[in-house]
Amino acid sequence: MRIAVLDETKNGEPRVAATPETILKLKPLGAVFVIEKGAGTASSISDAAFEAAGATIAKNAADALKDADVVLAVRRPKGELAAKMKKGAIVLAIMDPYGNAEALQPFADKGVATFAMELMPRITRAQVMDVLSSQANLAGYRAVIDAAEVYGRAFPMMMTAAGTVPAARVFVMGAGVAGLQAIATARRLGAIVTATDVRPAAKEQVASLGAKFVAIEDEEFKQAETATGYAKPMSAEYQAKQAALVAEHIAKQDIVITTALIPGRPAPKLVSKAMVESMRMGSIVVDLAVERGGNCELSVADVITDHKGVKLIAWSNTPGRLAPTASALYAKNLYAFLETMIDKKAGTLAVNWDDELVKATCLTKDGALVHPIFAPKA
Ligand code: NAI
Repeated sequence: MRIAVLDETKNGEPRVAATPETILKLKPLGAVFVIEKGAGTASSISDAAFEAAGATIAKNAADALKDADVVLAVRRPKGELAAKMKKGAIVLAIMDPYGNAEALQPFADKGVATFAMELMPRITRAQVMDVLSSQANLAGYRAVIDAAEVYGRAFPMMMTAAGTVPAARVFVMGAGVAGLQAIATARRLGAIVTATDVRPAAKEQVASLGAKFVAIEDEEFKQAETATGYAKPMSAEYQAKQAALVAEHIAKQDIVITTALIPGRPAPKLVSKAMVESMRMGSIVVDLAVERGGNCELSVADVITDHKGVKLIAWSNTPGRLAPTASALYAKNLYAFLETMIDKKAGTLAVNWDDELVKATCLTKDGALVHPIFAPKA
């Protein structure tokens, strides 16, 4: 079983889909790794470290992909690489499938089975394969560090001979995996933290981290969580009520960190220009949702902008800002899923197409786009 790992750094992605640790775990199961040259550099893994784990280094993507049974990647590989893949090969990556049927067609055409790791069901068995959680957790941490770096004041309250420094006020919008880690990190730095979410379950989680929950808790709020644990899009009426409450709150905050997402949809707009302008000079907004359009009206991806003295930070790949850690966890997520697709006795790939995890994540197979998200809308 030949496994190819692509160098994504040339496309601006610093993470890598395998580490020496995951290579060593897969070797006894019959895996032979071919890593594209330089694939680990931005994650502080040298080609020599991959070789020491038993991998071969290929000089380019085409060489790495030749005869590979499995392709491990962080992002969806470029369509033109599908032609270099073997018919019947499988690809595991964050495939970004919504609205991207066209980009996936070359894989279908080639007879490559692609799996979207971000569609992994959030059930106990699959927790170890949950790339959204492993990466969002790091993003939440990094958002606070990024804010602290740019914020010109201290986070903790300090009582000094020269006077008292007040604690920073941090407001986290969206208390899912990223938001909860942002709350915990900001608390560790000594900030006074508040948070909001539309899912009632978040209230208790926020409180358990020592932060105060701020939200309109009406009937709609009580119904806002889907059976799979995600947020529903809220009505215009709810959004207006919530926006009024949030506007008043944001005006008193030093740092706002937004993490709100709804699967398969653009990020909800939660922070308006007027709200940013209500913050005092030197305040910070960190928008973790910018890749999906942003939670803040003023966010511009991948630059720090200054709007009337308020700094707006919106890195489109925040987990990539902790690439060695993000790669280590991501590679383990992939390992855990791939391991379930291997016939351990024969040392060969043996995908169980009836497995619920396979069904939930498989996008292309046998020449077609097979996932329900591509089915024509009724
Ligand atoms: P996400 O990344 O889809 O969204 C982030 C947060 O934004 C969510 O908490 C969501 O409720 C919130 N949000 C959406 N619209 C909002 C709005 N208008 N205003 C304020 N907040 C808004 O969600 P994430 O982080 O992936 O987590 C979703 C749920 O799944 C959570 O309940 C989490 O605890 C749960 N989960 C369960 C796992 C399991 O294996 N059982 C693993 C990971 C997460």
